Amino acid sequence: MDVGKTRAYGKLILFGEHFVVYKAPALVGAVSSYTDCKFEHLDEPGLEVVDNRPAVPNYKVKKRAEGEEAIGLTLSHLGVDHTKRGIRLTFGGDLCAVSGIGASAAQVVSLARAVNEAESKNLSEEEINAAGYEGEKGYHGTPSGIDNTASTYGGLLRFQRTDGDPIFEKKQFPSPIRIVYATTGITASTTEVVGDVRAKKQADETWFSSMLDEYNKIVAEAEQTINAGDLERLGQLMDQNHTLLQKLTVSCKELDDLVLAAREAGAIGAKMTGTGRGGLCIALTPTPEIQCKVASALEKLAPQVWKTTFA
Ligand code: MEV
Repeated sequence: MDVGKTRAYGKLILFGEHFVVYKAPALVGAVSSYTDCKFEHLDEPGLEVVDNRPAVPNYKVKKRAEGEEAIGLTLSHLGVDHTKRGIRLTFGGDLCAVSGIGASAAQVVSLARAVNEAESKNLSEEEINAAGYEGEKGYHGTPSGIDNTASTYGGLLRFQRTDGDPIFEKKQFPSPIRIVYATTGITASTTEVVGDVRAKKQADETWFSSMLDEYNKIVAEAEQTINAGDLERLGQLMDQNHTLLQKLTVSCKELDDLVLAAREAGAIGAKMTGTGRGGLCIALTPTPEIQCKVASALEKLAPQVWKTTFA
């Protein structure tokens, strides 16, 4: 099979992790790194999974059970039964599996694409995305759908969960958005952190709703800023979003240290991205030179650092 057709991208949330779960709009960019999946039938019944994805230490061990659940959910959503005819799935690609990059979504979306190819199902992108969403439930019980949507469609997106289907649209920025992202090396459990935020919300609805109000102002301005192509202001708003995430208690010392180091090295905005309590920091860098400077500064603190561009 043509593995190229099974590519599913990673993502970085610019605005709105956690708030997106409560139907606030979010802005997300897909990275060009991808996961792909080879689907082969076997003579014997059963499911064999070969995971060749690059990953930070511990990621695959910590996520093994959730990954198995996610694969099972995706296969059953697509009506694939390996108890009659066996299947070998081989995951690969250049996306490093790390908390924060949407590696779980990329895995299940690439699997949906592989099933589509192998079984000539002729699925639409919407159906691929829906299968990815089902799979994501294995990794985190109540996904907002932002990760699988970015993974399926790529590009820069405004995403909003609703009571029905999510609403999303592609956004365009007039110049390249240069990003550095760095891992704390800590693998977080999205289920646990999202559950903890929910418990905090339930314990103090007034507090949470004031945070949500504050966030909604930030993201509304961020969207206008993207439309206007104002990179400098976008960075300031990312800083503000990070402060809110600190108040939400989903940041941690390791993330805050990376955020500060990125700003000191010349980033015009920096925040944690994704689940938090580990995972990734994302920094906005206005020129290729500053992008390299920020990457070098973060390399002193982080086990792994990447550069990317949302074009
Ligand atoms: C995870 O990438 C983003 C969260 O907001 C969870 C979700 O949206 O499903 C933390």
